[in-house]
Amino acid sequence: MSEDVWSPPAPNDPELVIPAELDPAAGAAPGSVTLIVPTFNEAGNVPELLRRLGEALPAHLPCEVLFVDDSTDDTPAVIEKAAANCPFPVAVLHRADAEGGLGGAVVEGVQRAATDWIVVMDADLQHPPHLVPELVGEGIRTGADLVVASRYISGGSRAGLAGGYRIAVSRGATWLAKGLFPRALRGISDPMSGFFAMRRSVVTADALRPLGYKILLELAVRCRPAEVAEVPFVFQDRYSGESKSTAREGLRFLAHLAALRSAHPLARMAGFGLIGLSGFVPNLAALWLLMGAGMHYLPAEIVANQAGVLWNFVLIEVLLFRDRRRHRHWADRIGRFALLANADLVLRIPLIAVFVAQFGMAVLPATALALVTTFVLRFAATEALVYLPRKPRTAGRHTRS
Ligand code: GDD
Ligand code: MN
Repeated sequence: MSEDVWSPPAPNDPELVIPAELDPAAGAAPGSVTLIVPTFNEAGNVPELLRRLGEALPAHLPCEVLFVDDSTDDTPAVIEKAAANCPFPVAVLHRADAEGGLGGAVVEGVQRAATDWIVVMDADLQHPPHLVPELVGEGIRTGADLVVASRYISGGSRAGLAGGYRIAVSRGATWLAKGLFPRALRGISDPMSGFFAMRRSVVTADALRPLGYKILLELAVRCRPAEVAEVPFVFQDRYSGESKSTAREGLRFLAHLAALRSAHPLARMAGFGLIGLSGFVPNLAALWLLMGAGMHYLPAEIVANQAGVLWNFVLIEVLLFRDRRRHRHWADRIGRFALLANADLVLRIPLIAVFVAQFGMAVLPATALALVTTFVLRFAATEALVYLPRKPRTAGRHTRS
């Protein structure tokens, strides 16, 4: 349940309680900050977090704290109670539907923010609250659009990252991300950091799709802030409770990288082609199995083709069009996908015939040309008929006044 900290719930949005200071219509004070804190069952941490923020935030810094909460425990009630003693405004957006998990929560927070700056930090005190004014101050001083709290520059460390395994995973993920996005992540030594300040004006509508878990990576790649600064920090031990990240988050991270990397249509087409090529393996394996079981090669070809289609479908869903699946039921998507993949086979033969008979091409180049043609057609049709949203999305509906 959402908690009313200051005022009755806004009539058109019962999930959110906005104190007057947080109301976008009120206009942004210069240098003002919305501190976005995603929470999932952090009742043991919130009072201490607010207490330390109260000590850390200078009275002249116009700062509002917005908890975006997906908790299943009494965290919202605990926030309300702790907020009563706070010298700054605190709001809770409790989401009934935890869409996009941590990343989705931060995006919803960013959508609500109407201040000059947004700061994102964890609730578990692994991110030192006293650095909040420093992050924003560094941005104002240097003119940077993004200021990252980094564990990997001099003065920073990952003291609180439990165990060699977690350190290795974190380091590996950092290298992978930096290798895939050398330009977008230039100047960011710690793209996995969940602690950073960003100018609200830099956030593009494109970045407001709730998809990634690694929200800084997402914002840096999609918004391309012109100037980036870093401030070192020591990653602390969790104050209370347990980490919510799991092995599953690792898989989501890889899918997230793939989705970001294939945002460009040409990159997406290349990915589509590579996945298509990989589909030959299950296709041939199925053919071998079916013929081994005594099936005639012609029906076996048709059935085996479906194994390749299924393989391609799964990879394309997970790696390429992950963020565009919601508007159609999966059965609808696989039906359309399979239809197009098989239509490709049916179309190719007459196409070759036309190239040979009408244009006098030799069989081999005609086949190659037909392959390329049907590939491009299939890519375009798959994108348009399976993954294109039916209505334009309403990202960026937020307007600043
Ligand atoms: N709203 C919401 N929804 N919040 C969530 C969810 C969710 O599904 N999952 C986690 N959170 C909140 C937690 O309550 C906490 O405040 C914050 O997100 C970070 O979650 P942790 O579970 O503490 O993550 P971590 O410590 O393993 O990972 C942190 O450090 C990583 C670097 O090693 C995060 O800051 C990562 O972003 C960061 O990459
Ligand atoms: Mn944590």
